[in-house]
Amino acid sequence: MIELRFGDITNFKGEAIVNAANSTLLGGGGVDGAIHRAAGKGLLEECKTLGGCKTGVAKITRGYNLKAQFVIHTVGPIWQGGNSGEAELLASCYKKSLELAFSHRIKSIAFPNISTGVYRFPKDEAAKVAISTAQEFVEEHPEMEIYFYCFDLENYNIYQKLMG
Ligand code: AR6
Repeated sequence: MIELRFGDITNFKGEAIVNAANSTLLGGGGVDGAIHRAAGKGLLEECKTLGGCKTGVAKITRGYNLKAQFVIHTVGPIWQGGNSGEAELLASCYKKSLELAFSHRIKSIAFPNISTGVYRFPKDEAAKVAISTAQEFVEEHPEMEIYFYCFDLENYNIYQKLMG
């Protein structure tokens, strides 16, 4: 099942939320900042033990003060024009996050629109990658509940159109 939501991902009441982090995993602006603020200091302390994260990869922590029990941190690609493997790396963020969730028996997971903020990935193309990767995973794991949280209307409208 794949569902579209509008709003702040820190309010998600399922098992895991995904963070659009940077390779240090030590916090930042955008959704990363919002997640760290809502989770509290414990999240940063645990992140400090992880040794960072490469682009297209995912790591998991607890959720601390969040309603979600887990945070899956993934690092999206910085848009460089589209010929530097950005689409493949973005697909890898979604796939690796879903695989990590599955291996922790997590059945409900919420994603922000990774890379479409500070990292400037074109929203339309990013949404296509996100949706197709999620659809492929759900076909193999029909028990998984995937939620796309859009925080800006532009992304929300794009997802609405693509998801029908
Ligand atoms: N809930 C859901 N989505 C949100 C929220 C929220 N509370 N706040 C923002 N967004 P960005 P990136 C959306 O810039 O492009 C950070 O500093 C926002 O509208 O957060 O992957 C990291 O530390 C946008 O659509 O992430 C990295 O340095 C989407 O989240 C860098 O930004 C992603 O925007 C990562 O850049």
